[in-house]
Amino acid sequence: MLNVVIFGAPGSGKGTQSERIIKEYGLHHISTGEVLRDHIARGTELGKIVDGYISRGQLIPDDLMVRVLASVLDDNPEKTSKGVIFDGFPRTIPQAESLKKMLAERGSEVHAVIGLEVPEEELIRRMLQRGKETGRADDNIDTITKRLKVYHEQTAPLREYYKQEGNYLPVEGSGDVDRIFFDIKTRINERT
Ligand code: AP5
Ligand code: MG
Repeated sequence: MLNVVIFGAPGSGKGTQSERIIKEYGLHHISTGEVLRDHIARGTELGKIVDGYISRGQLIPDDLMVRVLASVLDDNPEKTSKGVIFDGFPRTIPQAESLKKMLAERGSEVHAVIGLEVPEEELIRRMLQRGKETGRADDNIDTITKRLKVYHEQTAPLREYYKQEGNYLPVEGSGDVDRIFFDIKTRINERT
């Protein structure tokens, strides 16, 4: 079993690289952002609650987010048996503590945290471009600015948390997508 957290700022390539990682390692991809956007699109009760947070670039409260993640894990026992790539979770220290506990209860752990490092101007450029191409609702300059601020204040401290846990693996996240993936594979294979 291999559990990987893919970590990085908004627009750093977590989703892009996750697609390659799942193919290579047969892992199950859980993107909390995608789970929430799916609820919004389907108009569920959860979707109605989280819509305002996402459009303001704010995080969903930890207790709610942890419950959502636990139910995704519990709903997919076969799919998650080889391991999971966690994309966009954890985003706060309490979420990281909850993830550690949830995995320990299932007899497992986080094996590697891949940290994608990309300069801020490039993050903004990528998200504005995607906003034009796909119409993703939070890819506008106001919400992007708030997402980046929230990232620096609430999520970036997880780098230190995972460095202390001994499993933070930084990867240069700008440039050719295949080269970045090669570096990620090298980092994961060194650990396993
Ligand atoms: P989420 O969906 O997780 O969004 P995010 O973290 O802002 O990240 P993105 O999905 O925008 O970027 P990415 O890193 O996946 O990059 P991508 O591969 O798409 O979360 C959205 C919201 O949901 C949050 O703001 C929050 O409100 C809520 N939420 C989610 N999880 C939560 C949690 N745990 N707790 C609380 N709230 C939560 O790439 C970006 C673009 O760049 C793409 O167009 C891609 O094609 C392009 N690209 C990728 N790699 C490269 C490259 N090497 N060169 C050039 N372009 C590239
Ligand atoms: Mg994403």
